[in-house]
Amino acid sequence: MRWLPYAAVALLLCASATIAQTPDLAQRQAEATAAPPDQQEEETVLAEGEGRSEVFGYCTACHNTALIRRSAFTRERWDELMDWMTEKHNMNPLEGEFRDTIVDYLAKHYGPRTRGPRGGNPFLN
Ligand code: HEC
Repeated sequence: MRWLPYAAVALLLCASATIAQTPDLAQRQAEATAAPPDQQEEETVLAEGEGRSEVFGYCTACHNTALIRRSAFTRERWDELMDWMTEKHNMNPLEGEFRDTIVDYLAKHYGPRTRGPRGGNPFLN
């Protein structure tokens, strides 16, 4: 089944083409899918910030960070996704402060890049 990772990448590429609305999102998706799926990752592939170690440690048990890096969800949507991963994919339930740390990190660094008062500057979002 050596073709499986490539099929996954192809699927991701198709999916991402339809949701690539902003240039920086498209670039993030390109970077995310450029890495071979089974390549060993370092924590630093994720954006620096409070909660990064927690996210990297907890979320890479089943898949690499590409799924995270290509995503741009609101806090609410990330929060729902945590339950989805638990219900559908047997992730250990995330609760309490630890959940907040993870969801806050994801929403802050992998949220929708809307053009807000700060002009959508990627360094300020
Ligand atoms: C127990 C295994 C497991 C863990 C732990 C896990 N996931 Fe997942 N996740 C999955 C599976 C399985 C999928 C579906 C993969 C696919 O569709 O190719 C998935 C899909 C995703 C997706 C894509 C969803 C979409 O609709 O585009 C994102 C984003 C994601 N996970 C983020 C995370 C984050 C963030 C964490 C850490 C809080 C995490 N995952 C932890 C199993 C897991």
